Amino acid sequence: MSNVLIAPSILSADFADLGSAIRAVERAGADLIHVDVMDGHFVPNLTVGPPVVRALKRIAHVPLDVHLMIDNPDDTVQWYLDAGADIVVVHVEACRHVHRVVRSIKEAGRGAGVSLNPGTPLSFVEPVLQEVDQVLVMSVDPGFGGQAFIPASLERIHELTRMIASTGSAARIAVDGGIDGGTARAVVEAGATLLVAGNAIFSAQDPGAALVDLRTAATTAVC
Ligand code: DX5
Ligand code: ZN
Repeated sequence: MSNVLIAPSILSADFADLGSAIRAVERAGADLIHVDVMDGHFVPNLTVGPPVVRALKRIAHVPLDVHLMIDNPDDTVQWYLDAGADIVVVHVEACRHVHRVVRSIKEAGRGAGVSLNPGTPLSFVEPVLQEVDQVLVMSVDPGFGGQAFIPASLERIHELTRMIASTGSAARIAVDGGIDGGTARAVVEAGATLLVAGNAIFSAQDPGAALVDLRTAATTAVC
């Protein structure tokens, strides 16, 4: 399957040298750069905010996929749009008014995504499926890189694939958390077409080669 996109998550890269990290994965064919924004409230970790997104936008040649793990993105989503995010993904658990947030992203001419924690029923995204470009299924509890894939995520991706098909939504299914050579193929077979991977790429000796290996694993049928 050649339409699988790979988005390396810079959460596991060297924050003192993000430019080199991004260049390495772009050379290896990264489709997007995934930027994890954490506020210390919605998730128990803190990362980066709009100034870093703005700086990354200056150097990246592929679109920035900005994953907001923050409470009330209603209040601050505009900061990330102003910083140049190409896709903004918000958590349905964190929005006060999810349609309003999604529409503000679309009105800015950017891609809009909604994400679900592993414990959140899929029905939470159904009301907004027609309006989004991406549904990001978390396959770990968000907050940290390098966690183990939650196996029940596979059935959730299958079910979301059916839900999207039955509603006629054009949303792409993305998966984030514990994606590596051992899990990539199964999530693609379940219906995911965008794989986010941090540890599997940036903790490798050669992140570019790890990306190529991950793409091969994701797209090679197991006989
Ligand atoms: C986790 C983040 C992920 C994280 C994935 O909360 O949203 O994007 O970087 O990391 P891995 O691929 O290491 O599980
Ligand atoms: Zn993420």
